[in-house]
Amino acid sequence: MSSSTFSIAPSILSADFARLGEEVRAVIAAGADWIHFDVMDNHYVPNLTIGPAVAQSLKPHTRRADGSHAPLDVHLMVRPVDALALAFAEAGADLISFHPDASTHVDRTLQLIRSAGCRAGLVFNPAAPLDVLEWTLDKVDLVLIMSVNPGFGGQSFIDGALRKVERARRLIELSGRDIRLQVDGGIKVDNIRRVADAGADTFVAGSAIFGQREYKAVIDAMRAELAGQPLAEAA
Ligand code: DX5
Ligand code: ZN
Repeated sequence: MSSSTFSIAPSILSADFARLGEEVRAVIAAGADWIHFDVMDNHYVPNLTIGPAVAQSLKPHTRRADGSHAPLDVHLMVRPVDALALAFAEAGADLISFHPDASTHVDRTLQLIRSAGCRAGLVFNPAAPLDVLEWTLDKVDLVLIMSVNPGFGGQSFIDGALRKVERARRLIELSGRDIRLQVDGGIKVDNIRRVADAGADTFVAGSAIFGQREYKAVIDAMRAELAGQPLAEAA
């Protein structure tokens, strides 16, 4: 896969919540492709974050200098899913992904998201099998493999996720459809290449980017790894 097909999606979970608009603009100026927006309900996961009103307020800040905008990639860690998915579609989400175990009728939820004009994604926790994909790949635009248990930023990457990424890549290739394969949790400059080698094309990174002062330096280093030319070696 060529490095230009890779997308980096900073998770604003690790941004300064008191300055979210500014943080979104800064990370886009630093080269972010998508803005990853983590929604937690203190029910499906043991944490509570931000809702549709915040997405709506942030939407204007996703505009790039050239007038295009960085897709707002909403990762729902909520149960039930449907009503909030619709609220996020109305708030300006471009992609909405959810955990199949959080929806009673997965096929219906996928259709709901797409009929609201968004791309739909399914998210798989570290211990979750990919079985449901066999029956949903025709309605999915994004597959997200969790490489940590959902709920918090700053956790360590679970290596077993790589095997699942490989398997998801095979299923996507077999489907022949244009489906993004995203990985979320514990991604850093020093492991992003391994995640790409397993078959991922879209990388969520929260603490690795927002934990550093220079967002551009981290994103550039990630891209250099993806291009097979680590900055340390290039220097
Ligand atoms: C975890 C969230 C992730 C999280 C990633 O539940 O879905 O998006 O922000 O954070 P890092 O990159 O710090 O693991
Ligand atoms: Zn996430």
